[in-house]
Amino acid sequence: MGLKPATNPDVEAATIELSIDGKPVTAKDGVSLYDVISSTGKIIPAMCYHYTFDPFGSCGMCLVMQEGKKAPVRSCTAKATAGMIIRTEGDDLFQARKKAVEKHLSVHPLDCPVCDADGHCELQDMAFQHGVTNLANAKQKFIPEDTRSPVLDFNMNRCIACAECINVCKDVLMIDALQFMKKGGFNQVVAKGDLPLACEFCGDCLAVCPVGAITNKFSKYLYKPWQMKKTTTTCNYCGDGCQMYIETKDTEVIRVTSPLSWKNKWGDRTETTKGHGGLCVKGRFGFEYIDSPDRLKRPLLRKGNQLVEVPWLEAMHAVVDRFADIRKKHGPDAIAGLITARCTNEELYLFQKLMRVAFRTNNMDSSARYGHMNFVRASNLALGIGRTANDWEDLTKAKAVLVIGSNLTETNPLTSVRIKEAIRVYKAQVMVFDSAVTNLGKLSSHPFLIKPGTEGFVIDGLIKATIELDLVDEDSVKKHPRAFAALKSAVGSLSLEQTAAKTGVRVEQFKEAASIFAESPRSIILCAEGIVRQPDGYHNVLKLIDLAWITGKLGRPGCGVSTVTEEPNEQGAVDMGVAPEFLPGLASFDDQTMRDKLAKVWDATLPAAGSGAHLTEILKRCRSGQIRALYVVGENPLATLPASMDVKAALDRLELLVVQDPFLTETAKMAHAVLPATTSAEKDGTFTNLEGRVLRVRQGMDAIGESVPDWQILTALANGLGCQWEYESANDIQSEIMKLLPGYYNLGQPKKLAPSADRYLSNGYAASAAGRYKAARTESARPFTLLMGQLLYHSGKLSTFAPGLIKIGPNTGRIRMNAADMERLGLQDGALVKLTSDRGSLQIGVQVDQSVAPNTCFFPEHFNEPPVKDLMPVHVDPITGVPSFKRASVSIEKV
Ligand code: SF4
Ligand code: SF4
Ligand code: SF4
Ligand code: FES
Repeated sequence: MGLKPATNPDVEAATIELSIDGKPVTAKDGVSLYDVISSTGKIIPAMCYHYTFDPFGSCGMCLVMQEGKKAPVRSCTAKATAGMIIRTEGDDLFQARKKAVEKHLSVHPLDCPVCDADGHCELQDMAFQHGVTNLANAKQKFIPEDTRSPVLDFNMNRCIACAECINVCKDVLMIDALQFMKKGGFNQVVAKGDLPLACEFCGDCLAVCPVGAITNKFSKYLYKPWQMKKTTTTCNYCGDGCQMYIETKDTEVIRVTSPLSWKNKWGDRTETTKGHGGLCVKGRFGFEYIDSPDRLKRPLLRKGNQLVEVPWLEAMHAVVDRFADIRKKHGPDAIAGLITARCTNEELYLFQKLMRVAFRTNNMDSSARYGHMNFVRASNLALGIGRTANDWEDLTKAKAVLVIGSNLTETNPLTSVRIKEAIRVYKAQVMVFDSAVTNLGKLSSHPFLIKPGTEGFVIDGLIKATIELDLVDEDSVKKHPRAFAALKSAVGSLSLEQTAAKTGVRVEQFKEAASIFAESPRSIILCAEGIVRQPDGYHNVLKLIDLAWITGKLGRPGCGVSTVTEEPNEQGAVDMGVAPEFLPGLASFDDQTMRDKLAKVWDATLPAAGSGAHLTEILKRCRSGQIRALYVVGENPLATLPASMDVKAALDRLELLVVQDPFLTETAKMAHAVLPATTSAEKDGTFTNLEGRVLRVRQGMDAIGESVPDWQILTALANGLGCQWEYESANDIQSEIMKLLPGYYNLGQPKKLAPSADRYLSNGYAASAAGRYKAARTESARPFTLLMGQLLYHSGKLSTFAPGLIKIGPNTGRIRMNAADMERLGLQDGALVKLTSDRGSLQIGVQVDQSVAPNTCFFPEHFNEPPVKDLMPVHVDPITGVPSFKRASVSIEKV
């Protein structure tokens, strides 16, 4: 129907007036009449309608009378026009709607007692509302249940053919995995082609199904909706920060549901630019890690060669005594700490305070160092903002999006849905530069398959083309003539032809992409793992900022340079000051004003300015014996970092390794003490998502076993070491953060930032620009590029503790290659090969994956069996300390 473009800011729909129940109402010409009625606050029944997709008009419930027409009209598919006179109430309409309910019930089984939707079913509600008591005509369909999908069961006896499932999948998610098919005399919903469902398993179809026709395999027959406690919280998997409801019964997590629901179908269509309320597969079906039997239930202390369970008091005494002893004998800098960005803001804040005040060292880091820090440092230096510039609304409404090195569907699926809406509704030109055939690339207007590791050259090409075609924004560059002259000279010797040969992007394609980006009124650059987790990531972000600057896209509404985060609170980790270079609020660690302020609030002396070590430096100092005690909260460096970083040697050398985690991780197994921490489902706090929204994390259930929220352990540890912290709740910690960072708790609203490059461009830019555009490193000459990356079904290692996600996305233990390369090497699916890099070799199976580009192969970073990560070389960024280890040059030989 195409009703949504009426809300497009670039389409000026006429304002019209019509009458609803005798009252004049203004609306935009051509929008759904149902939308106009519901915007007046009137809710009339509607079973196939949902504001997130275009009206379908199948259920016959939204009937209204239009003056001049004899029969009632379906208001959802009727378009509002000037002068319409509409009546929404009356016995005739009630009876007509009642007939529609009776019709649905005549082919619906009355198996409510064993239906998961019992008590949460729109058909039940409608029957009740319309007083449908004659159910004698109910006819059974006897359609066997389709249980072939790993997560969803389809019971088509209950289907009312409303098509909500099909429409959300096709329209909102652009996946289009479902269809109607006439089978056994009935129109049934089946996976495309009536094959077993193969899709992203987001479960949004389940969320919008108004009856019990689609059921959740993980919670089937386990509950009645009213038996569960429902807690609104924030997903703990990725930085999108989706809101979700954790539903628990006693001490079990039964299911996770989303704000997207048939229960929540009346919304403003323009509001979907901020999100449609759905979840991805991880959020919806990855909850089983929370009450996993593998959770640590009691503290462990190493006695001899074994970790043995001990009471909390004994564990804490031992840990405090040994930290205090090491600090006394070897000084504070013999201690260091690492923390995961899956902790809350309040915990991250306490962690850095503990390190700086209780241990008195600045040796600390978080998982933001694995890549996000490259973006933060570049954006902080150039624009003074230290985080992404755009929120979801900007992304959705953009006219041009340049996605570089970012396989969004796999890493940040709901941000990817925003770009899909930009494509579908706002008709954005989306340019995807990636060394994989990404899902977004397939949907985009301009997909460019680039040679692996050439993202930096692609940016060079775009800048060169922008200058050659004179696409520069005069106002932006004339303010900084020296800087622009320096940039022109830095790219002066680059040739588009050579860049094309290096990257695989043709000269005319560079020119086309540069023109689209420069000429669009709202253009956004979105970069992620292919930039920030690769060598030169910091410089490449600065180069992207150059591109945005010369095209006038810095500081202009709806424009900017942005990124996404892998873990839920990487931005929070940086904002809270968990990095040796930053104090809370992204103040430099050496900033005297902030140091003074903190010293006063904390009543403590901070470690000396200029001191401290980040992740790679900490590991180096562990190996050299300079650091003797390491406190690891939720991090698992042994399983994450490749062998070339010698993590094991670093940990082996320690006198004290304390690991605090919900699970006995590889790193925890080497520890002297292991403290059982809760997951985010068992605690309160906040996460800061990739847009900068501060989102509530709420406790949905009691802690498993004797596990304790990280903030409580941090407080106990600090007090054991002589502090007098009196935090009794996450709120107490928030109050302290609020004093230091007024305005940080922005109540879930993304804070609009005003990036300004003026200071950067006029101070030292001219001298530093040339260095970024020098030809980059040489790679070893092996024929294939091995890439390690994320899968949609997983997040770090945490998701591997969720059996449901392992069932959907198991570790096949094979590298993925495209069919043409496999054929060239004479390999069948499952064949064994010898995979060799400069770091060593191993035998491994292969499998076909058409998203893998020619001459590359892929292995999911979530798995270490076999240990493919140990083939990866490491480049540590000399400025940001970010270790890049996701790409290696390899050869592949048939065994
Ligand atoms: S689970 Fe998601 S992707 Fe799969 S059919 Fe349902 S809506 Fe579509
Ligand atoms: S399965 Fe549910 S959402 Fe899909 S058409 Fe049937 S009733 Fe509607
Ligand atoms: S993993 Fe990310 S996209 Fe998926 S539900 Fe969680 S926050 Fe949303
Ligand atoms: S809501 Fe209009 S026909 Fe279903």
